Amino acid sequence: MIRIDSVTKRYPDGTVAVDRLSLEIPDRSITVLVGPSGCGKTTTLRMINRMVEPSEGRILLDGADIREQPVNTLRRSMGYVIQNAGLFQHRTILDNIATVPRLLGWNRQRARARAAELMERVGLDSSLAKRYPYQLSGGQQQRVGVARALAADPPVLLMDEPFSAVDPVVRKGLQEELLRIQDELGKTIVFVTHDIDEAIKLGTMVAVLRTGGRLAQYAPPAELLTAPADDFVEDFLGTDRGIRRLSFFASSALELTTTPIVAVDSTAEQIATRGAGEAPYLLVTDLDGRPLGWGEPGELTAGRIDPGRLLPYGRPFEHGQESLRAALDGAVLSPTGWAVGVDGTGRVVGVVSQQTIGEAIRSAHAEGGDAGATAGTEAKVSG
Ligand SMILES: Nc1ncnc2c1ncn2[C@@H]1O[C@H](COP(=O)(O)OP(=O)(O)OP(=O)(O)O)[C@@H](O)[C@H]1O
Ligand SMILES: [Mg+2]
Repeated sequence: MIRIDSVTKRYPDGTVAVDRLSLEIPDRSITVLVGPSGCGKTTTLRMINRMVEPSEGRILLDGADIREQPVNTLRRSMGYVIQNAGLFQHRTILDNIATVPRLLGWNRQRARARAAELMERVGLDSSLAKRYPYQLSGGQQQRVGVARALAADPPVLLMDEPFSAVDPVVRKGLQEELLRIQDELGKTIVFVTHDIDEAIKLGTMVAVLRTGGRLAQYAPPAELLTAPADDFVEDFLGTDRGIRRLSFFASSALELTTTPIVAVDSTAEQIATRGAGEAPYLLVTDLDGRPLGWGEPGELTAGRIDPGRLLPYGRPFEHGQESLRAALDGAVLSPTGWAVGVDGTGRVVGVVSQQTIGEAIRSAHAEGGDAGATAGTEAKVSG
């Protein structure tokens, strides 16, 4: 475990970049440092691998002061990834990734074999191995940066705004890739960002810093959203805090109903029976059980419902996998106010009204943050 113990960094010109910061960074999880520009995030990260030396306080790695070991040994145990990847422009992708193993004295063949393995791990096609960094997209370069940092299999990964230079879609892909890699490899990751949504998505623990390098709050993301420590944190979290918090509640608690569902070839009797329930509309599915749209029972032609005349069903949510946020979103997007629950293959498992979702939200809140946060680990990843 990394422990930052009352660390202050004062630069020679008198700037206090970090002010008496204490953090316990848990092993094998992602700890995010987030805060406005100039609040000391990079300085903090660089003190962990001694690119910057603290003015006061100490940093412990597995209980020992990091100054007790040679700086090269320390840095070898910590991969470092920065914005724009910081690749060597005159080296191929494969050789970029093989840099640290080569420095450690691995022979070329072994280092390259390792590099090829890592390319696969971070989702890079092997056909890119012989290219140079300028021949890659920003997102691909960032993946190379992650692969290079992982090459010597360090237990710790330090990442300084690694994904901030790519567009939102690529960024989302990189974030998901990082969560997957973290799941597989169990690295201890310290991740710097100024984007609170990225912090909430990636962090097991999130440290919110304020200008002057002071810690505003250190908590799991669900707790930040539930109980911001002060106005600064609340402001930094931005609007929609309540809605975003729903991402941490699994939709498995929702009771779906299958009554108002009919197949496209339903008989008049089936339509009449199903339409007699509480729902004003019926969800029509194809013969495979996939949603087609909503229609009023009286408007549906028995035996051969016309999908072209149905109301759109909005965005279905994957029941049990996605969160209450996804379910609510589905209901809000649907003109009928009902959300459609599907399984992993997109087949309808049931429908649920806004009212029932509202009740589930109220009882999730009543059960408290802890239960929500646990259920949410999965929900958080998938939506
Ligand atoms: N070498 C230096 N000498 C003097 N001041 C510095 C030095 N490096 C950083 N600073 C100052 O320390 C403060 C913290 O800088 P740091 O780079 O850690 O912030 P940051 O949170 O990473 O910001 P950003 O989000 O913009 O990257 C800033 O006020 C910065 O100007
Ligand atoms: Mg920075």
